[in-house]
Amino acid sequence: MKVLVALLLLVPLLRCKAVPLAPFHPLDPRVINCDDPESEEAAAIALNYINAHHPHGYKYALNSIEKIKVLPRRPAGEIFELELDLLETVCHIVNPLPAENCTIRPPTDHVVEGNCDVKLLKLEGNFSVLSIKCYSTPDSAEDITQICPDCPVLALLNDTQVINAVDLALTEYNRGQDSAYVKLLEIGRAQIQHFPDIVSVEFAVVVMNCSAKDAQDHVDDCQLLPKDLAQFGFCNAAVLTKNNITVSCTIYEHQPGVTHHHLIHNHLGRQLVQGFKHHDLRDLHVSVHDTSDSSSAEASVSPPLAIPVVKRAAGAVLDPTIPPLPIGPGPRHPLCPGRIRHFQV
Ligand SMILES: *[C@@H]1O[C@H](CO)[C@@H](O)[C@H](O)[C@H]1NC(C)=O
Ligand SMILES: *[C@@H]1O[C@H](CO)[C@@H](O)[C@H](O)[C@H]1NC(C)=O
Ligand SMILES: *[C@@H]1O[C@H](CO)[C@@H](O)[C@H](O)[C@H]1NC(C)=O
Ligand SMILES: *[C@@H]1O[C@H](CO)[C@@H](O)[C@H](O)[C@H]1NC(C)=O
Ligand SMILES: *[C@@H]1O[C@H](CO)[C@@H](O)[C@H](O)[C@H]1NC(C)=O
Repeated sequence: MKVLVALLLLVPLLRCKAVPLAPFHPLDPRVINCDDPESEEAAAIALNYINAHHPHGYKYALNSIEKIKVLPRRPAGEIFELELDLLETVCHIVNPLPAENCTIRPPTDHVVEGNCDVKLLKLEGNFSVLSIKCYSTPDSAEDITQICPDCPVLALLNDTQVINAVDLALTEYNRGQDSAYVKLLEIGRAQIQHFPDIVSVEFAVVVMNCSAKDAQDHVDDCQLLPKDLAQFGFCNAAVLTKNNITVSCTIYEHQPGVTHHHLIHNHLGRQLVQGFKHHDLRDLHVSVHDTSDSSSAEASVSPPLAIPVVKRAAGAVLDPTIPPLPIGPGPRHPLCPGRIRHFQV
């Protein structure tokens, strides 16, 4: 009985002593490398989201994972913070091909690089997007000239020559008797090669509910296809003179649920991209409110968890032969940035 009383008295004493000896640690980040499968999984989720949600231009592919940080989250789960390096592909966002299947533009074709800071929540093994902040920039003209002096660089999307070339190419395409009539959705990119001037343009189109032939007679009767039949396409064209135009368009099959509402309602028939050579990923804004408290300053003022404290105290008090938990040579650094999948811009 005496022993028990003594123990009971000792317990609160130990507790009081243990706290200052093993101060509460704010939730420590978990070290993971940029090329770990888990990092790649997180990057793939973020990239899918980016490609499904950015409103203009082209799909992007992952070039490298620059940084990754994994923080515990209360009450459950983990927060993944990644910095991603992306490269523009040749697939416009209206192209139903998954970005993994899209070709990256070669360095000679004026590449556009994307940069994203993403924040994901991992809960019970599932990732969800909390926030994404991106921007994108075309490679510098100097870089291109260095590897390929004759390669044309990106032209302004509102350049008069570019707009004329797109008009000519569309008219030429719509001259085809049997094809459905298409209208311009947006110009994706343009390059002008000089001496002689060849204007190369890429643009997205939307399919109307009449044939190109009908449109020649009464274009006003042509309307957008109803939503449940909506169809999009993408054209490449090179225009030398108004009599020398090559244009090829691919019209994609209808995809259930895909309406590209933003492009249709804000951009159809309007040239809104003024003074830019590409569609900046900055236009994508994602921020989901996460109510949890994730390793913020607040985490360290919340009541300490008893478990690690007791473990340390027990090890030290009850069995002095057990060495203290290793403190280690400071935090391990993740192996970052990760590998480059395509090329360094
Ligand atoms: C995309 O590529 C994968 C792997 O190469 C292939 O299995 C799949 O069929 C492709 N998907 C499309 C739509 O081309
Ligand atoms: C995680 O995903 C699995 C499989 O899709 C699902 O069964 C489970 O309910 C998901 N868990 C959460 C917390 O969403
Ligand atoms: C196209 O749609 C408009 C409006 O819905 C309709 O009046 C017209 O008849 C349709 N044209 C064709 C060729 O279906
Ligand atoms: C169009 O221009 C290209 C390049 O200069 C030339 O090879 C081709 O013969 C021209 N085609 C026509 C129909 O004039
Ligand atoms: C393109 O847009 C920029 C910025 O608004 C403007 O300064 C420029 O004059 C425009 N160019 C043409 C050809 O309209």
